[in-house]
Amino acid sequence: MNLSQETIQKIDVTVPKYPEKRSAVMMLLHFIQSEQGCISNEAVEWVAERLDLQPINVLEVVTFFPYYRQQKLGKVHVRVCRTLSCALMGAYKLGDELEKVLDCKMGHTKEDGSVTLEYGECLAACGTGPVVLVDEDLYENLSKAGTVEPMVEEIKKRAAVEAPAAE
Ligand code: FES
Repeated sequence: MNLSQETIQKIDVTVPKYPEKRSAVMMLLHFIQSEQGCISNEAVEWVAERLDLQPINVLEVVTFFPYYRQQKLGKVHVRVCRTLSCALMGAYKLGDELEKVLDCKMGHTKEDGSVTLEYGECLAACGTGPVVLVDEDLYENLSKAGTVEPMVEEIKKRAAVEAPAAE
């Protein structure tokens, strides 16, 4: 697997810090995802071999924690909060609307790699729900008339700039 020297060094320094090699699995996955944007099957096998584990042991970690991704994010990352306050304020209706206007299935990345649309958990803005995080920008009070359109325009504007192909 192609990893940078810097990442290999971090891995070499990290593994011996743990009394049992297998305990370093999350750190190794974190380093690899930081460099490659996701955890590929090749990465799962590489980590398993490095830590004397079976690939299934590593895959269990990857699929259990939402932090780890098996596919790269799109150019624009859109997260709709669906925790209680936002759900009561219309988060699911908003999610349906965004699926349509962005032509992107919830929980997926568009084929051209331009947008990832997914539900997320509480974004600490419960009093102004429903809220959506577009990359690092929070959009609030999205059940009010005229609030969704400017956000969608911004998403489309960002997505249009040299979108990388999805893998
Ligand atoms: S419930 Fe949506 S921000 Fe807290």
